[in-house]
Amino acid sequence: MYDVNLIRKDFPVLDQVIYLDNGATTQTPKPAVDAMLDFYYNYTANYGRGAHRLSIAATNAYEDARDSVASFLNAPSEKMIMTKNTTDSINMVANGFGFCAGDHIVTSVVEHHSNIVPWLRQKEKGVDVSVVDMDSEGIVDPKNIEAAITDKTKLIAIGHISNVFGSIQDIETIIRIAHKNGIPILIDGAQSAGHTAVDLKKLDCDYFAAAGHKGLLGPQGTGVLYIKNPETIEPTNLGGGTTSEADRSCFVTKEPPESFEAGTPNLPGVIGLGAAVEYLKKIGVADVERHETALAKDVAKRLSEIDGVAVYGPKNRAGLVAFNVRDLEPHTVAMRLDKYDNICVRSGFHCAMPSQKFLGINGSSRASFALYNTEEEADTFVNAVERISAESKK
Ligand SMILES: Cc1ncc(COP(=O)(O)O)c(C=O)c1O
Repeated sequence: MYDVNLIRKDFPVLDQVIYLDNGATTQTPKPAVDAMLDFYYNYTANYGRGAHRLSIAATNAYEDARDSVASFLNAPSEKMIMTKNTTDSINMVANGFGFCAGDHIVTSVVEHHSNIVPWLRQKEKGVDVSVVDMDSEGIVDPKNIEAAITDKTKLIAIGHISNVFGSIQDIETIIRIAHKNGIPILIDGAQSAGHTAVDLKKLDCDYFAAAGHKGLLGPQGTGVLYIKNPETIEPTNLGGGTTSEADRSCFVTKEPPESFEAGTPNLPGVIGLGAAVEYLKKIGVADVERHETALAKDVAKRLSEIDGVAVYGPKNRAGLVAFNVRDLEPHTVAMRLDKYDNICVRSGFHCAMPSQKFLGINGSSRASFALYNTEEEADTFVNAVERISAESKK
């Protein structure tokens, strides 16, 4: 039985604010914070570098955390790289893939900057990039992807769930199209991991990038990159931790995942992420998804009924709602919600300018829901937006 009030006890900050900026980062539950404190108080040491007991404890805890994330996403642990965030994960693919002049990449206009800028950057090398259209609700038609493919296409990169529209892309079909054409595909799962069930074995994408600090409820500074065939990507950083042999003239690089994790990793962060994922597993991602999408769908419907409020995205949406109130600046709306109603929402372009320029929207405010938000909070939020809209009527 899903008990939101019980869940809220693990997130003390929720007594102070109505936190609806979960698309940016979520709150971290107490068991994950406790796991990090335990690391700091009882076994701070480096990864795999020592034979002493603290180093062994730290290394084991780090690897247990990797196993937790890998099993949650149904992938082998050795293919699950721990990164800083989704952006880091995507850049590892962009910079390690070895694109050459004349190669071609397909992405879409709905993407977050983190899944478009690293590809646009490849243009400096003479790589051609197609940015396919979406519809007015932020949905990319798989046929647009298929139509953009050429015999030079080396990679398709597409987001699972839009951080602006809450639109859910038909990634199963897009992955099928990619593979039918012999092209690897990267999925940006920043807004899907932890919010909906992700089964990487079933999905069969080549790369899956996600944040540890969003739906997976981990701390900031954590992210993951799944690589189906690690030999397709060159590690971008080498040095300590990646090397099994070296002399004055050459070196031998370790096997994945260590080959991709140069230097001292974020041990406390990854250990916190592992604990957060175990916490999420206990609650159940299917129930979390049901809870979040019910809130978002209800809020989207009610906001769209308010005079002067524009709501973006499809009816069948994930757990977030972007909106505008009359001609108010999105930041003005967010500041009023914060100041007068104690509500935290995101405002601006949400790091996804191309999609909003495409639709002619000058940014928006966004409420994004997590497992701990309540119907009462949603009511307070909708009423506050209604009041702001009424106050702003000329
Ligand atoms: C769809 C999408 N992709 C990528 C990112 C970047 O994520 P991170 O902050 O983990 O790098 C975000 C962040 O909001 C996002 O929503």
